[in-house]
Amino acid sequence: MSSATQKLPQSLPVAASKGGPLPAGPVPVPKHVAVIMDGNGRWASARFLPRVAGHREGARAVRRTIEAAIQSGVEWLTIYAFSSENWQRPASEVLDLTGLLRHYLKNEIAELHSNGVRLHFIGDRMRFETDIGNALADAERLTAGNTRLNLVVALSYGARDEIASAARSLAIAAKEGRIDPAAIDEAMLASSLSTAGMPDPDLVIRTSGEMRLSNFLLWQAAYAELVFMDVLWPDFGPVHFAEALTEYARRERRFGARPA
Ligand code: FPP
Repeated sequence: MSSATQKLPQSLPVAASKGGPLPAGPVPVPKHVAVIMDGNGRWASARFLPRVAGHREGARAVRRTIEAAIQSGVEWLTIYAFSSENWQRPASEVLDLTGLLRHYLKNEIAELHSNGVRLHFIGDRMRFETDIGNALADAERLTAGNTRLNLVVALSYGARDEIASAARSLAIAAKEGRIDPAAIDEAMLASSLSTAGMPDPDLVIRTSGEMRLSNFLLWQAAYAELVFMDVLWPDFGPVHFAEALTEYARRERRFGARPA
């Protein structure tokens, strides 16, 4: 729930930004960064390429972002890889996206593991085919002891559905007498979400210039800083990541209270 304030590693390329000067003192690095990776389709269209080419390039940007997060001292990185609404896309695109996911799981997990990345998946994994479901569970098991970076991949994820499921499970527990309904509070609801035990995101980045949350981490991002960037996701790299972190460092986080 809390955000850690750490010293920014010297190696981090703090990009020039449109905002004002950085506050004096140690630069706060967000403990948890969440990313809405948007713009793959527009990236491909601009090059007269099929949309899948944008998604493939987007997967490369995911690799760069994981590396940038590790280098920056970020402890948690959540990426919105497939929303519950994405199932409504044409069948051919859904097939491309699930094919890419299958390829990613088959070819990238070993390297992520050797780099100390721990994988977590949130969302309705039951909607994927059995081989993908099994690969998700295997990746979580394999990387469970890693501590360098926690990578949370949101797949078939929708925040409203997640909150409704949590409410349903608490209602069932209350009906069965396992909990007192009067004892339901924010902490209990948070611990019924798919992100139970994870810190809330401190910073949410959305690429492609769109400015909305699109049903992503609606509960968890209540006090996150939002940074919207014009870059299309396949072009996203370490300089953009550093730019977002610099923008985050400029923000004054008050969590609804008054400044000290
Ligand atoms: C949004 O772009 C992006 C997605 C719907 C999928 C995100 C997937 C990836 C980045 C690659 C796969 C990642 C993994 C981990 C396997 P859009 O298609 O909505 O773009 P548009 O708004 O320009 O059409």
